[in-house]
Amino acid sequence: MKFDEAFFDQIIDRRNTDCEKWDDRSVMDADGVPLWVADMDFACAPAIVEAIQQRADHPCFGYTIENPADNEALIGFWKRRHGLEIQPGEIQMLPCVITGLKTCVRAFTQPGDSVAIVTPVYGPFYGSIQSNGRVVRAVSLLRDEETGRYELDFGAMQKALREGAKLMMLCSPHNPVSRLWTKEELTRLCELAEEYGVPIVCDEIHADFVYPPQRFVSILSIPEGRNRAVMLCSASKTFNVAGLQQAALVCMNPDMLEKLRRELNAAGVACGNTFALLAARAAYTACDDWLDGLIAYLDGSRKLLSDWVAEYVPKAKMSPVEATYLAWLDLKAYGLSCAELAKKFRKAKVALTGGTFFGEEGEGFMRVNFACPRSQLKEGIKRLGAALEEG
Ligand SMILES: Cc1ncc(COP(=O)(O)O)c(C=O)c1O
Repeated sequence: MKFDEAFFDQIIDRRNTDCEKWDDRSVMDADGVPLWVADMDFACAPAIVEAIQQRADHPCFGYTIENPADNEALIGFWKRRHGLEIQPGEIQMLPCVITGLKTCVRAFTQPGDSVAIVTPVYGPFYGSIQSNGRVVRAVSLLRDEETGRYELDFGAMQKALREGAKLMMLCSPHNPVSRLWTKEELTRLCELAEEYGVPIVCDEIHADFVYPPQRFVSILSIPEGRNRAVMLCSASKTFNVAGLQQAALVCMNPDMLEKLRRELNAAGVACGNTFALLAARAAYTACDDWLDGLIAYLDGSRKLLSDWVAEYVPKAKMSPVEATYLAWLDLKAYGLSCAELAKKFRKAKVALTGGTFFGEEGEGFMRVNFACPRSQLKEGIKRLGAALEEG
């Protein structure tokens, strides 16, 4: 099968499949265009579907045992795609990446401690800290108002660590501002973590959504990061199988890994979902051609999106999309809050993620998920523009 434009242009009706993106009526009506929650409106790779179907043909679904093939598949993928060497003993399977974020907070900090995060950032970063009785120490990104591009504020990060933050939590590449952190930037963050003796948790779930010629750099490929970072990853985002719930953490520091395992054990978190493990194994071993086709398609879409935003939403400013399939739109010129924008968009039958989901810096911004057939994306942007331009 060819994974070309025609494949990704196909419209798949996902309604009435308990699909959060399409069926959550608190967000959008049945005839809305969803450009919000971060999953993709594309068919996943046939090798994944076949692996699940083949297993489903066997009528017994009892407990599973760990199979070394699961770790080997993940290791092979990261070596092939990102040049990262991982050993089997450095991997711990998880039900999802958010479990990983929360486990790191619990393993490396005490109630009342503060955790430094780079904001605006994916909402559950806040939740993983606050739901465990820890305190968010927000380190705001610096925004270039001319280009919409964001930079890390190393001085502010240093201040947060000097003032006692006990853990640094990163999103790499960064959701929602679509920055691909460079080796130099990651190295400086690792050096700061080393200076203040704090661990780093780095959520690399968007690692595969990087557009050539750029290359993704894992925190674990930075010498200063190898001994103090926990990397979180998953096939769920890359291969569009988030509903199956399967992720992993990779930690090269045995003492840190032991702490994480104790915490998971205490919470009774066991990872043995038969279908999820088989799907991840198939994804990591047999779907590179699907993934290459996907990235080529998304690369084309991000350029088209920028043109369509200029045409239909002329006062919006879109941050450069260096990675992820998420675009960060500054709509402040329209003079509306996120709550007001959401109301307008609901009426116009298009759904986006409000900027304040990512923190207070997101007021007046909206995030667009462009991982859908281009006809759907264009229609969504037209509706967005019509809603804003009508006043
Ligand atoms: C940065 C980031 N981390 C984690 C997640 C969620 O991952 P999971 O479903 O494995 O918990 C998302 C989903 O959008 C995300 O964007």
